[in-house]
Amino acid sequence: MSETILVTGGAGDIGRALARRFLAGGHRVVLLDRDAAALEGAARDIADGDRLACITADVTDGASIGEAVKQAQAIFGAIGVLVNNAGGVTAPTLASTDESAWLADLDLNLNGAWRCVRAVQEGMMTRGRGIIINISSANATGIYGYPAYSAAKAGLEHFTRFLAVELGRYGVRANAIAPGSVKTQAWNERVAHDPEILERVKRWYPLGDVCVPEDVAGLAAFLIGPDARMITGAVIALDGGLTAGSTTMAREFCGAEF
Ligand SMILES: NC(=O)c1ccc[n+]([C@@H]2O[C@H](COP(=O)([O-])OP(=O)(O)OC[C@H]3O[C@@H](n4cnc5c(N)ncnc54)[C@H](O)[C@@H]3O)[C@@H](O)[C@H]2O)c1
Repeated sequence: MSETILVTGGAGDIGRALARRFLAGGHRVVLLDRDAAALEGAARDIADGDRLACITADVTDGASIGEAVKQAQAIFGAIGVLVNNAGGVTAPTLASTDESAWLADLDLNLNGAWRCVRAVQEGMMTRGRGIIINISSANATGIYGYPAYSAAKAGLEHFTRFLAVELGRYGVRANAIAPGSVKTQAWNERVAHDPEILERVKRWYPLGDVCVPEDVAGLAAFLIGPDARMITGAVIALDGGLTAGSTTMAREFCGAEF
């Protein structure tokens, strides 16, 4: 069944990959982002005029999200799937996290998802079906820097379980995808300072590689499909084994077989 799918943070690299994958599956996609110029770029890049719409809105502003959802519904009809993908980091350490950084990361990564759910939830409950996917992070589970972002993503995972339990009887499923490092523009600044960073990071991953945006899109496509009909409340690690354990430490203990 084709759905209207709302993707927040849609102008980013994961947002664009999600859009391409959903469009290929015959769905209608609304990309929502606060960056109007980046949205224009995404629309040019994806180039699917008929089933793609772009709306400029800010997930930290409830009124803006309410309007955006109304606009999206006016274009393509009721929202069947919401992907809470907008996210970002501010301060890397506790020492560098002041009150405004802490509040900003919580507002974007946790409260933003809550606002978007609030805007679509009644429609999904009335229709008796709906799918919510929250894009979390390996940071929700382990300590890899960015304390406020990590706390927000941990909250997002708990919110996901809450949605699954409370909205299950309305036919609404909610799951989270928790990626490790994904090669996107979010890494550009770090790569500009340290061009080898992603290569070095790979050695911490048991599979020896990091994700690309299409890995996230592929899992999201599975989660909205019929084979996932009984999956709800799950947090699915998409991290090449990172949160399963540490190859490097296991090697210290047990030798080269790791
Ligand atoms: N890239 C990674 O390594 C990685 C790893 C784990 C999880 N994630 C998560 O994946 C998601 C997408 O990340 P990405 O790498 O594609 O990032 P990105 O920077 O490429 O895209 C994020 C998009 O969100 C938009 N955005 C930011 N604040 C917003 C707001 N207030 N309202 C609306 N839009 C807003 C930005 O304009 C941008 O287009 C995020 O939730 C991120 O936390 C990324």
